[in-house]
Amino acid sequence: MADAKFLEAVNSRRTFAIISHPDAGKTTITEKVLLFGNALQKAGTVKGKKSGQHAKSDWMEMEKDRGISITTSVMQFPYKHGLVNLLDTPGHEDFSEDTYRTLTAVDSCLMVIDAAKGVEQRTIKLMEVTRLRDTPIITFMNKCDRDTRDPVDLMDEVEDVLNIACAPITWPIGMGKEFKGVYHLLRDEVILYESGQGHTIQDVRIIKGLDNPELDTLLPNHADDLREEMELVLGASNEFDQELFLAGELTPVYFGTALGNFGVDHVLDGLVEWAPKPLPRATVQRVVEPTEETFSGFIFKIQANMDPKHRDRIAFMRVCSGKYEKGMKMHHVRTGKLVSISDAVTFMAGDRTASEESFSGDIIGLHNHGTIQIGDTFTTGEELKFTGIPNFAPEMFRRIRLKDPLKQKQLLKGLMQLSEEGAVQVFRPLRSNDLIVGAVGVLQFEVVVQRLKSEYKVDAIYEGISVATALWVDCENPIKMAEFEKKAFDNLALDGSNNLTYVAPTMVNLNLAIERYPDVRFRKTREH
Ligand code: G4P
Repeated sequence: MADAKFLEAVNSRRTFAIISHPDAGKTTITEKVLLFGNALQKAGTVKGKKSGQHAKSDWMEMEKDRGISITTSVMQFPYKHGLVNLLDTPGHEDFSEDTYRTLTAVDSCLMVIDAAKGVEQRTIKLMEVTRLRDTPIITFMNKCDRDTRDPVDLMDEVEDVLNIACAPITWPIGMGKEFKGVYHLLRDEVILYESGQGHTIQDVRIIKGLDNPELDTLLPNHADDLREEMELVLGASNEFDQELFLAGELTPVYFGTALGNFGVDHVLDGLVEWAPKPLPRATVQRVVEPTEETFSGFIFKIQANMDPKHRDRIAFMRVCSGKYEKGMKMHHVRTGKLVSISDAVTFMAGDRTASEESFSGDIIGLHNHGTIQIGDTFTTGEELKFTGIPNFAPEMFRRIRLKDPLKQKQLLKGLMQLSEEGAVQVFRPLRSNDLIVGAVGVLQFEVVVQRLKSEYKVDAIYEGISVATALWVDCENPIKMAEFEKKAFDNLALDGSNNLTYVAPTMVNLNLAIERYPDVRFRKTREH
C-alpha cells in the first residue's frame, strides 16, 4: 500500500491546459490564474506584449519578435488544497501538432470562449482532440465586459456544435458596460463586479441569496430581471453532474472577464474541486495507475534552445506513476539504457528550478542530448510503452536544399533530429535524393531553417514542390503490400523514422490510389 503522504501528493495534482481560438483570452487568463496561484506578484508578465517585459514563458527570440508563443510552457502553483499544473499550448495556428500532443499529457481542459463570438473554428478542432480521450472540460465564457451574445444562445451553441451538455455554475448579470457580476448557482450568491481591478485580487462584494433585499438596493435595475431569469435557467438547464463531467459529456460553464480578473477564481475553485486528479494511463502492456509507487512517465514534447545560454534541449515528461527523485535511475524503454537523472527541472511559474520530487500529474524536464524522442517511455525497469501520442499528416510541403552542397550529411542529420523532436516531418522519396519537409503550419519551415543554421551550421533554402498530402501506409497482407510498393514506387517515401508514406501530388491522385489499392490503409495520424 502506498503511504498516505504519497497518496495525498498525487491526489492534490490537477494538470490541465487551456483550449481556445486565438484571441479568446488564453494568455490573459493564464496571467490571472498565476496571479491567484500567487505565482506572480502582478499579472501581466506572461506574454508582456504591452508591458514590454519578457514573458516568463517566452524562450525563443522569434516569439518575442512576433509576440506569439511557440513554446509550450508549464507552470506549477498551489491553489487552495490543490497543486495545479497548467500546460500552455501554443495559441498560434501553426504548431498545432505540439498542442495536440500537449493535450495527451493533461487530465482536464479549460475551454475559453469569447462570449461575443461564440464557438470558433479552432476550438472545434481542439475539442475533437480532447474527445479522443474524453477529457473533462470546464468552460469559461470570457469578455463579459463587452457586448456579448445572449448566454442561453452561447450555451446552446456549445451543446449543438461541440456536442457536450452545459451546466451553468455562474450566470452573468448584464453585459458590456452594464456587466454587474455573476450569480453563483451552487453557492446561491451574487458576486459583484467592479471594473478597473484587473491587476489585483479583488475584495469582491458578495450578496447571499437571490431573495436578499440587498440585491434590490445594490442592483436596482437588474435584481428583478435576474430573479426571473434564474427561475427560467434553473428550470431549463442541466444540473452539474460530476460523473458526466468526468466522462467528458457535460461541462460546467462560468462567465466573467479575464481582463477584469473576474470569474477566473470561480473556474479555479471548480478545477480544484471537480477536475480529475491524475488519471490512469494506457500502455501497450497494461493500464498504469497514478498511485502505483514505481515510477513511470512519457515524453510528449521536446523543446530545443529554451535557454540560449545553455543551448540545451528539454524533453518534457508527464509523470504517470510513482515519484521522481533527484538522482534516480530511469530505464529508457526504447533504448534499453539505464540513465541517471540528476538534473530534471520543474516549471514553477515558468522559472526553471531544480526539482527534488515530482509526482504523477507533474511535468518534469529532462536534459536531452539527442537520445530522447517524443513518445518515449521511462520506467524503473518494467517494459512499458505509453500509447496515444500522435503524429499528424503534414499539410504543407517544401523541398529543402543546401546552399553549400558539400554539407548534405549535416543537413540530413539535422533534419532527422528535428523530425525526431517532432519539430517538422521529413520525407525521403524512394526514387530520388530529394528531401521534402512537411509541416502543419508555415512558421515551422522558418524555425527549421533557423535551427539548421544555428545548431547544425548548414544554410538551407526551400523550393516549392507540388505535394498535396503525405499519408502513412500499411497493409496486413504482405503480398498486396509488395505489389503496392512496386506499383506506387514513384509516390512512396520514408519519413524520419523510416515509416513508409504515400506522397500524393494532388488529392485526385490520392483518391485514385485509395480506390486502386483497397487493401492498403492510408493514415492521417501515426502513433509514436
Ligand atoms: P489569446 O492568448 O487567446 O490569443 O488571447 P489574449 O489573452 O492575448 O487576448 C486577446 C485580446 O483580448 C487582448 O487584447 C486582450 O487584452 C483581450 N481580452 C482578453 N480578455 C478580455 C476580457 O475579458 N475583456 C476584454 N474586453 N478584452 C479581453 P489585444 O488588444 O488584442 O491584445 P494586447 O495587444 O492588448 O495584448
